[in-house]
Amino acid sequence: MPHSEKSTTAFHRRYGPWAVITGASDGTGAAYARQLAAKGLNLVLIARRPGPLNELARELEQQHGISTRTANTDLYADGAADQVLSVAQGLNVGLFVSNAGADTNDKEFLAAPLDAWRQLINRNVLAVTELAYGFAGPMRYRRRGGIILMSSAAGLGGQPGVAVYSSTKAYDLNLAEGLWAELKEYGIDVLAGVCPVMETPSFRRNHKAEIPGIFDPEDVVTTLLERLPDGPTHIFPFGPDAANASTIEKARRDRVVVVANLVKQLFHKP
Ligand SMILES: NC(=O)c1ccc[n+]([C@@H]2O[C@H](COP(=O)([O-])OP(=O)(O)OC[C@H]3O[C@@H](n4cnc5c(N)ncnc54)[C@H](OP(=O)(O)O)[C@@H]3O)[C@@H](O)[C@H]2O)c1
Repeated sequence: MPHSEKSTTAFHRRYGPWAVITGASDGTGAAYARQLAAKGLNLVLIARRPGPLNELARELEQQHGISTRTANTDLYADGAADQVLSVAQGLNVGLFVSNAGADTNDKEFLAAPLDAWRQLINRNVLAVTELAYGFAGPMRYRRRGGIILMSSAAGLGGQPGVAVYSSTKAYDLNLAEGLWAELKEYGIDVLAGVCPVMETPSFRRNHKAEIPGIFDPEDVVTTLLERLPDGPTHIFPFGPDAANASTIEKARRDRVVVVANLVKQLFHKP
């Protein structure tokens, strides 16, 4: 058996047979869909626009012989996570990818209506939490699975112009790191992707300038799928922290490990 086929099978055993991807119709989410379909995983694809979502689903079914379910769910809305969970009901979901997350407001805090920030928090904080909760439970029962939360370099520190977005991405980052420590003993791998600027339709809607060193979302997804067993955090070298990315990544991991041991000793397990 060729090496790629062997490792695809190992991936499938660990994270298959179904994956759920939010924000799957374009950009990074579509890259996840294509790469996971190529590994033979069946897909639940979530986004608001049914057209591109269904088109991608049909294409991947034909190309890779997989099954798909799609749902045009607006993750800004209250109750969106329940809709996603009901679409995935009865499926053996081995991988959850929380991808939808970009800030399309492109405004300073007081320049947008408060509702814009409520929606962003609904999608990037509440829905991420509810979906991680909904999918991690059955994974823990089965003692295997994977969760990838897409964070951002903006989540490493406060950032003007995207203050709420950056805060939600810090939440996703911390959530992934905490869950990594809690869930690894149940065979569940959790990874935060601290993503660089990527050439996606969502990014291009608001930013026209040439960005030196901008990443291809396909490469970002390939890296994160490879890193999934080795969490909790992957920081892509980009922006003000580029030179220190691996140092920060290691320091964050070491910290989680130390805190997890302390918490175990002091509070939970003797
Ligand atoms: N691109 C970058 O430069 C960059 C940098 C750092 C981190 N990231 C992170 O990487 C992830 C992917 O980013 P991206 O650039 O590909 O853009 P994105 O806007 O997060 O993702 C686009 C996808 O999400 C869907 N989507 C957006 N809002 C939604 C909502 N309310 N409900 C349901 N689906 C929704 C879109 O489809 P519909 O429009 O049909 O709903 C589309 O399929 C995000 O978490 C982002 O924060 C991106």
